Parts: sequence; structure tokens; C-alpha cells
Amino acid sequence: MKPFSMTLFASALLAVALPVQAAGDPKAGQLKTSMCAGCHGIPGWRTAYPSVYSVPKLGGQHADYIVAALKAYKTGERDHPSMKGIAGSLSEQDMEDLAAYYASSYSGPAR
Ligand code: HEC
Repeated sequence: MKPFSMTLFASALLAVALPVQAAGDPKAGQLKTSMCAGCHGIPGWRTAYPSVYSVPKLGGQHADYIVAALKAYKTGERDHPSMKGIAGSLSEQDMEDLAAYYASSYSGPAR
């Protein structure tokens, strides 16, 4: 590719990528939780598999924190085999949506 077409290509990519930065959509996020529910279980509360204490609860967590954690698993900054595999399959929009959903859900005991 010539440098000029490379630039065109890069800006086309950017134009496609930019809207992806939009804030998460909790409804879209809810539809994506099927990948997470096996481990993180009931939205808003911790679950039983593989063991109750080692799967952190996500519901009510700050969206920014969830996104940051998912990115850290994806880059390998945080190292956990199952979460690394999962986060690696998520797009930035998936992370934002999931984070928006989990941040808005809380079904644990009253606090
Ligand atoms: C195979 C089981 C499993 C699946 C499936 C799974 N997780 Fe996890 N997740 C874990 C475990 C175990 C941890 C704790 C890992 C650690 O100690 O770093 C974790 C940690 C996290 C954290 C960090 C929480 C914190 O308090 O730091 C986030 C955020 C998270 N998962 C989100 C998700 C999302 C979103 C999905 C679905 C797309 C998902 N997980 C699917 C097992 C799973």
C-alpha cells in the first residue's frame, strides 16, 4: 500500500472506531451477560462456581472500574486465565455495555 492510501485506510478505521467509544448501553450489556453469568451468576451478586469467594461481584461496581479491569485482563496486565480469555474476546463497546449494565444492577442484600 502507498503511504497515501495507508492514511486513508487509517482514517477510515478511525471513523469506524470512534463511535465505539460511546458510553455503554446497559440494555445491550444485559444481552451480553450470558458469557459472564456462568461464573458471575446472578447479576449484582456473587455466584457459586468455581467457588463462591473467588468470583468477584460485578453488580453495583463502578462502570469505569469494570472497563478498566476488563482491559487489564485483555492486555495481560491482570492475569487470570479465564478472565483473560473472556476479556480477549470482548470489543471495547462490549466492555462499555457490560459495565453499564453491571453498574446499574444490584440485587444483593440491602446496603
Ligand atoms: C470462567 C469463569 C468466568 C467467566 C465466564 C467470567 N468471569 Fe469475570 N472473573 C472470574 C474470576 C474467577 C475473577 C477473579 C479473577 C482475579 O482474581 O483476577 C473475575 C474477575 C472479573 C472482573 C474483575 C472484578 C474485580 O472486582 O476486580 C470483572 C470486571 C469481570 N470478571 C467481568 C466479567 C465479565 C464482564 C464477564 C463476561 C463477559 C466475565 N467476567 C466472565 C471468572 C469469570
